[in-house]
Amino acid sequence: MAGRSSGLFILLVLAVGLVVHFTSALSPDGTALLELKAGFNDTRRMLRSWRAKDPNPCGWVGIACHFPDLRVRSINLPYAQLSGVISPSIGKLERLHRIALHHNSLHGPIPAEIKNCKELRALYLKANYLQGSIPPELGELKHLTILDLSSNLLWGIIPPSIGQLTQLHFLNLSTNFFSGEIPSVGVLGKFRNSSFVGNLDLCGLPVQKICRSTLGFPAVLPRSGSLPSSESSSVIAPMTPGRPSHFVNGIILGAMSTTGLVLVLLLGFLWLCLLSRKGKFGQRYVKMDKQAVPDVGNKLITFHGELPYSSEEIIKKLELLDEEDLVGSGGFGTVYKMVMDDFYAFAIKRIDRNPDGLDDALERELPTLGSIKHINLVNLRAYCRLPSAKLLIYDFMALGSLDHYLHEQGQEEQPLNWNARMKIALGSARGLAYLHHDCSPAIVHRDFKSSNVLLDQSLEPHISDFGLAKLLVDDDSHVTTVVAGTFGYLAPEYLHNGRATEKSDVYSFGVLLLELVTGMRPTDSTFLRKGLNIVGWMNTLSDVKLEDILDVRCGDVEAEAVEAILDIATMCTEADPDERPTMSRVLQMLEEEIMSPCLSHFYEPHLDI
Ligand SMILES: Nc1ncnc2c1ncn2[C@@H]1O[C@H](COP(=O)(O)OP(=O)(O)O)[C@@H](O)[C@H]1O
Ligand SMILES: [Mg+2]
Repeated sequence: MAGRSSGLFILLVLAVGLVVHFTSALSPDGTALLELKAGFNDTRRMLRSWRAKDPNPCGWVGIACHFPDLRVRSINLPYAQLSGVISPSIGKLERLHRIALHHNSLHGPIPAEIKNCKELRALYLKANYLQGSIPPELGELKHLTILDLSSNLLWGIIPPSIGQLTQLHFLNLSTNFFSGEIPSVGVLGKFRNSSFVGNLDLCGLPVQKICRSTLGFPAVLPRSGSLPSSESSSVIAPMTPGRPSHFVNGIILGAMSTTGLVLVLLLGFLWLCLLSRKGKFGQRYVKMDKQAVPDVGNKLITFHGELPYSSEEIIKKLELLDEEDLVGSGGFGTVYKMVMDDFYAFAIKRIDRNPDGLDDALERELPTLGSIKHINLVNLRAYCRLPSAKLLIYDFMALGSLDHYLHEQGQEEQPLNWNARMKIALGSARGLAYLHHDCSPAIVHRDFKSSNVLLDQSLEPHISDFGLAKLLVDDDSHVTTVVAGTFGYLAPEYLHNGRATEKSDVYSFGVLLLELVTGMRPTDSTFLRKGLNIVGWMNTLSDVKLEDILDVRCGDVEAEAVEAILDIATMCTEADPDERPTMSRVLQMLEEEIMSPCLSHFYEPHLDI
């Protein structure tokens, strides 16, 4: 009897389980998204796939989820013609990494509840009609890397809490109605004018404007709250007022309320103007689609003829880049991978180094670098200046850098055998020789190293970053600003006097040959412990035994072939630059060695790599 009733009970539990499974309610994240949808006015029915009957929102348009827990990871709905407001329910999506709602027509405030999205990395709300001030709570989002609130109707002060966002590397608050002093706390101190341009009345260091009120009183008072002793010591007056006399108080209060009133009227007027203008733009956008004019302040210069994408398309893709697209960072900036809708990929280098006054020189010189075309050089396709960033657009090289491939992951997938290494040496020599001897005036690379030799799908090398160091490093600080990874490649005279010549590139090329033969980084700890680099180390080996230095991953190689390459490397790394061969001579020697009749199989199409 007891056995039968427990059997019935199990059946009942199973049945209930099945019913729950088949009629499973929408997950809490899905419900929160429906609340968000309720706040939007979705005239084009973009969100029609957002349905309450689904078990989770992971297949909904614009939504991506974490796996396996199916929590919402990102909301991607730029250019979706959404109007309405952003519901505070967004704060229920605690695992969000990215919110991209830029270029819509949203109004109302930015909900402070976004602070609950503790993992948020990127918040794109550019080009909407958002009103109110920045919720200070955004300062609690400690993973936030990208914050773009530009081109809205936001006003008030910039909350000092934003300075606590230590991970923030992109900030755009331009074209709003912010006022007051830009706090110089924390990370806020590192952003420049381009992050703040086009606001009502911002002052402070980044915009190079002293903070003064309209009455001639400093608008900022010292941190201590005492009367100002200098204009530069600062916190924003309304937040920590000092103790001015009643008379001054009266004037300030009167002035503030009048200014406030004027401001509100002005804002209202501007908002109405913008709304009516937006209507027109909206209609035009529908008709013109991709041909819409990019934002004022955006500039795209293409090289190598036109790119088969409109500026609008490229800029739109650029705006979607975030930390998940990062592929690396080096001495001059951060590199991202950008994939177009037809899957063509570009590498985007955001220039972080920006010596004062070099902007013009950069823009003047880049077309020259962009016009250089050779199979062993990476194509510089375009230069893009956004209000917030300067970007170089290159072809993306599928296998990444030789440095990475040789010393890190590539070896596991497809180790570089001797033939592959010689193909890379030869191609790199061709690229450098072209820069030195076929360009007029000659181009000195200045930063030749294995992380600037990029490999395509067939392991063909393409040299990148040629000539960039000249544009981005001012002469006074040349060597101190060179990144650590470059040191092992620099010729002694370049380190000494900072003058780069073709012969200093030849030295760097010799170092690369040694790196290819030994499979060791030029600054491997084996040498560093002895106070040497790879060249010094080779010189200390009086009787070089091939088995001691040759990278075992090269496979079977004839001793003469290795020795011939070592001889060329030794010539290239001579201490006296005059003793070093030119790149054209180096190329000739390599071709003789690598492509000599008995070794011609190195260059067969069925290359065994
Ligand atoms: N065109 C490209 N295609 C693919 N990967 C690239 C490209 N350009 C740069 N990278 C990757 O980004 C990393 C950083 O590049 P970069 O900023 O030039 O620094 P560095 O040359 O000092 O390594 C490179 O090491 C490489 O792995
Ligand atoms: Mg590079």
